[in-house]
Amino acid sequence: MEKRELLYTGKAKSVYATDDADHLVILFRNDTSAFDGKKVEQLDRKGMVNNKFNAFIMEKLAAAGIPVHQEKLLSDNESLVKRLTMIPVECVVRNFAAGSLVRRLGVEEGKELLPPTFELFLKNDALGDPMVNEYHVRSFGWATDEQLQRMKELSFKVNEVLKQLFDGGNMLLVDFKLEFGLFHGDIVLGDEFSPDGCRLWDKDTRKKLDKDRFRQGLGGVVEAYEEVGHRLGVKFD
Ligand code: TMP
Ligand code: ASP
Repeated sequence: MEKRELLYTGKAKSVYATDDADHLVILFRNDTSAFDGKKVEQLDRKGMVNNKFNAFIMEKLAAAGIPVHQEKLLSDNESLVKRLTMIPVECVVRNFAAGSLVRRLGVEEGKELLPPTFELFLKNDALGDPMVNEYHVRSFGWATDEQLQRMKELSFKVNEVLKQLFDGGNMLLVDFKLEFGLFHGDIVLGDEFSPDGCRLWDKDTRKKLDKDRFRQGLGGVVEAYEEVGHRLGVKFD
């Protein structure tokens, strides 16, 4: 597989074409962004840590029967993935109240949500990723009902697999965001799964081990991501 031209530059990753129409190369950069790109910094090692962390998680999800775009690690900062046609909607599963849910509903941070909730957000930085509902997704044609139901089913399945995995490292999976796309007509998990797109708390101390450290200026961001990886057995070197 040969890496070709740059197709797209996101806030933390860049996407390259390859000599094969069905595959892309994703480059994980050190850029770290929050608040829809309003806060951006370079954090040493973050690209490498997220690339390797994501490859580890995607492998676990694939082993559990979830279709994923990840094919293989190519280098410290690059992975080979299937080329998906992305659905412009973010799927968020929450096990505990945090972040925008706390702000929106005035509930206490850390309240356990039984059963877990599922929310949809339109991927649009200029609009601040507004929350949308299933009718919006269907009416605006972002996804069909069948695709939406599959995304929901897979999101909850990811939750079951990862809740257990993080529990093994004495962590709570508070919430997370997934992005899906279509590969030859099938819904496949794309983007990444890393501490950039989820919330993880230490089970005993509730120490934040995810991007909230960056959002809230708590420091030790990449160190926390590496600690999460070490607790799960991810190898970073
Ligand atoms: P929220 O509390 O800000 O709505 O976010 C819920 C979870 O989804 C949290 O783990 C962060 C993640 N997320 C992203 O990674 N990117 C996004 O654009 C959004 C809306 C959420
Ligand atoms: N990843 C998004 C951004 O960079 C949202 C966030 O994590 O706060 O703005």
